Amino acid sequence: MDRAKFEAIREQFRTEAKERMDSSAIYELRKRYLDRKGGLVNGLMKEMRNIPAEEKAEFGQGVNQLKDWVLENLQKMEEKARAQELQHRYEKEKIDITIPAVKIRRGNLHPNTQVKNQIVNIFAGMGFDIYEGAEIETDYYNFTALNTPQDHPARDMQDTFYLTDEFLLRTQTSAGQIHVMEAKKPPIKILSPGKVFRSDDDATHSPMFSQMEGLVVDKGITLCDLQGMLDVFVQKLFGEGVRTRLRPSYFPFTEPSVEVDVSCFACGGKGCRLCKGTGWIEILGAGVVNRKVLENCGIDPEVYSGFAFGIGIERVAMLKYGINNIKLLFESDLRVLDQIND
Ligand code: DAH
Repeated sequence: MDRAKFEAIREQFRTEAKERMDSSAIYELRKRYLDRKGGLVNGLMKEMRNIPAEEKAEFGQGVNQLKDWVLENLQKMEEKARAQELQHRYEKEKIDITIPAVKIRRGNLHPNTQVKNQIVNIFAGMGFDIYEGAEIETDYYNFTALNTPQDHPARDMQDTFYLTDEFLLRTQTSAGQIHVMEAKKPPIKILSPGKVFRSDDDATHSPMFSQMEGLVVDKGITLCDLQGMLDVFVQKLFGEGVRTRLRPSYFPFTEPSVEVDVSCFACGGKGCRLCKGTGWIEILGAGVVNRKVLENCGIDPEVYSGFAFGIGIERVAMLKYGINNIKLLFESDLRVLDQIND
């Protein structure tokens, strides 16, 4: 019998079976030798019919021995490969639990947004609706209808960015009052937050800043209603013990007009750096809506009256959080913003 054929296959297997074979290469090797159809070892069986009858048994035995030998070798290789692959995986998946964890940064709302939300929440709780006007206004809504016609000296109170003769960047959220009163008849109770623009730039002024306008119009509204409401407002915003003080002032769209101070929430009114030793901090402008403004909007001042107020958001944020330069609210420096989470 031709034993050399068996030997040749063994020899071929030895050269093909390399030391470091991975599972998939071993799988291919197994197929090449032991596949039922095309495998080299099984191929020998096809030759059975050419073998003389008296040698058939021995030939068959030889094929089986070769098959067992190949199988045994493959199994050993497979075990080794599996162990190596497992080891490799363990090493790859090793976790060093002593490495410091990656810090997760938690953001917080911008101080301006925090103050705006606080104020909106307080007034929403008192039944105010929110009205957001447009940042580009006409001269009429921003000035004329608010009793500030062309040539009125009060125009000098605000340095205006004009876009054309007619259009401008609103200098005050007060412009929204007119839109609201034109669209809706009393009772009116609205709060109007938004950006305003003035050609003004120093440590406490920025060309773009935010205001919050309030307007109440109904029968029998007086200055007393304004002060009562402001007392509740400042206590919710700055703390229980805070009181208000009204000082006479001038705004063209209110008569009488007042400047509203709050007792210093830092020193309780004794006098400190924040209140410049006076015990009081100026916080907003307000007043009883001028009859002319009501008339401009088609509301009869003999039947209705109202009050209005305007408050600067950045100013409140600066006072509340001890920020001494308004620029810090626009620079987005996380070392500053991270400290303010009210
Ligand atoms: N618009 C004023 C300003 O920007 C603030 C203001 C004062 C608004 C009195 C009012 C008000 O509604 O009654 O300086």
